[in-house]
Amino acid sequence: MNANSHKKLLKEPCTLIIFGVTGHLSKNKLLPALYHLEEAKRLPDEVTIVGFGRRDWDDEQWKTEVTKEIKDRARGGLDAQVLERFTRRLHFQQGDLQNEESFVALKKRLENVDTFPANHIFYLAIRPQDYNFTTKHLVSSGLHEEHNGYCRLVIEKPFGHDLESSEVLNTQLHKSFREEQLYRIDHYLGKDTVQNILVFRFANLLLEPLWNRNYIDHVQITHAESSGVGGRSHYYDSAGALRDMIQSHLLQMLALVVMEPPANLDANALRDEKVKALRSIRPISRNSVNMHAFRAQYSGGHVDGERVPGYLEEEGVAEKSTTETFAAMKLYVDNWRWKGVPFYLRTGKRMKENNFLVSIRFKRPPQQLFKDTALKQMEPNWILLNIQPEECLRIEMQVKKSGLELETEITQLEAHSCDNKAKIDAYEALLLEVMEGDQSQFLRFDEVSWAWQIVDPVLRSWMEEQDYIHTYPAGTWGPDVSSRLFDSNDQFWRNKLDAKNCDS
Ligand code: BG6
Repeated sequence: MNANSHKKLLKEPCTLIIFGVTGHLSKNKLLPALYHLEEAKRLPDEVTIVGFGRRDWDDEQWKTEVTKEIKDRARGGLDAQVLERFTRRLHFQQGDLQNEESFVALKKRLENVDTFPANHIFYLAIRPQDYNFTTKHLVSSGLHEEHNGYCRLVIEKPFGHDLESSEVLNTQLHKSFREEQLYRIDHYLGKDTVQNILVFRFANLLLEPLWNRNYIDHVQITHAESSGVGGRSHYYDSAGALRDMIQSHLLQMLALVVMEPPANLDANALRDEKVKALRSIRPISRNSVNMHAFRAQYSGGHVDGERVPGYLEEEGVAEKSTTETFAAMKLYVDNWRWKGVPFYLRTGKRMKENNFLVSIRFKRPPQQLFKDTALKQMEPNWILLNIQPEECLRIEMQVKKSGLELETEITQLEAHSCDNKAKIDAYEALLLEVMEGDQSQFLRFDEVSWAWQIVDPVLRSWMEEQDYIHTYPAGTWGPDVSSRLFDSNDQFWRNKLDAKNCDS
C-alpha cells in the first residue's frame, strides 16, 4: 500500500523458504498464490522457492506433489508453460524443525547463491507451538544473519494465545530480529474489498461529513462461514471463535472503519492510525463481560440440505468442550468521532451461508415529517460493505414509489468490483508485499497487543465459566439470544446484503 506499490515490480530476487510445506496453509493458499504470481509474471526469474519438510522427497518429487496440489486450485486450470516456469523455481530440503542440524544443512545449501539468491524470506506456515524452536534454530544456525542480503520472517496468526503469551513471543523474536524483519500476517488485510474500505472512506469526500456519531446509529461486522472446523479441530478447540476471528480479522476491520485518515500511506503512518483506533476502544470490565460478549457452539443441523454433525461430534474435539464456534461482541470507541456508537462484531462457523459484511446503519431523520401519512416511520439508511463472497459497496436509500399514494421503497446505489478476471487471493498480494519489503498490510506488534487487550477480559471470564454454553443448530445464523447485545429494540442482526432479519 505504500505510495509506490502500484508499480509492484520486484527489483531484488529472493529465496522464499516455506516451513510446513505439507500443511493446510501451504497447500491451499501459499503454493497456489505463488503459481498465480508466476502466471501474472510478477516474479523475476531468479526468485527461488524452497520447501522444508520431513518427507523423504527430492526436488523432483516435490515438484510432482506441488503440481498435484495446485491442479484444482489454479484459476482457469493449469497452464503447461506457466507450470514449467513455476516448477523450475522449486527445491525441496528434507529436514525436521526440531532438529538444529536440519537448519545447518539448509544454511549450507543456501550458500550456493547462484541458485538461491541471498535475500531470504522464511515463511512459518507451521503450528504456533512450533514457532519457538523454529526461530531458535534459525538463529543458532546463523540463518537469520544479513551479511549478503536481507532476512525476513513471515508469521501467521494467532500471534500468541493471549496478551501475555503474545508479549513473550514478541520479546523472544526481538532478541534476534528487528521489527523491520517481521511480517505478521492477517490475510484479511490483503483482500481487495478490505483495501477498498480505505479507498471508499478516503477517496470519496462525500462520506466524510456523515462518518461519525452524529449520523451513524451503529455498525455491525459479521463474518459467517457455513463450514465447520474441518480437520483443524486440534487447533480450534483450544482457540475458539473469539481468538480465531475477532481478535485478528474483525478488529482489523473495525480499525479500518473507525480510524482517522493517515498522514500518508507509509506502513507506519497507516498503522499509527489503526493503533489509535484500537486504543480508543473502551475496555470491558470483568463484571460487564455478559453485557458485551456472547458465545455459542453449533449442534447438529443442515447446511445446504446436508446433515452435518454438531461441534462435539467433530473428530478431535474434547468430549465436553465449551469452546465457542460463535462469538459476538459489543464495543464502544470512546473518541471524538465515535463516542456512544455501538459496534457489534459477530462471527460463526456452520452458519447458514458464507458472508462477510460490514453494515453501517444511519440514524433516523430527526423529524418524523411523514408521520400522518401512510409512511409513518422512515426506514434508516444503510451503507453495506460486502467483503465476500460478493464484493460490493451498497448504499440503501428510500425513494417514493411511483403512483398516487405516498409510499416508499428502498433502492440501492451499488458499486461492484466487476472484473472477475482480475480477482486475486489475499496471499498473492501479501507475498508480493513481503518480497517488496512493504509492511503496510502487516501487523505491527502494538496492533496485536491492543487487540489482545480488548478480548482478554472476555477470554478469561469464559475460561472460568466452563459448565454451560448456548447452542445453535448448524445451518442457522446463530442463536437469537445473541440479540441481547443490542442497545435498542430496533437494532437487529443484518445477515446479508438483501436480508434484514435473523432467520432469513
Ligand atoms: C482464518 C481462520 O484466519 O480465517 C479460519 O483461522 C477461518 O478459521 C478463515 O475459516 C477465514 O478466512 P477466509 O479468507 O476464508 O474468509
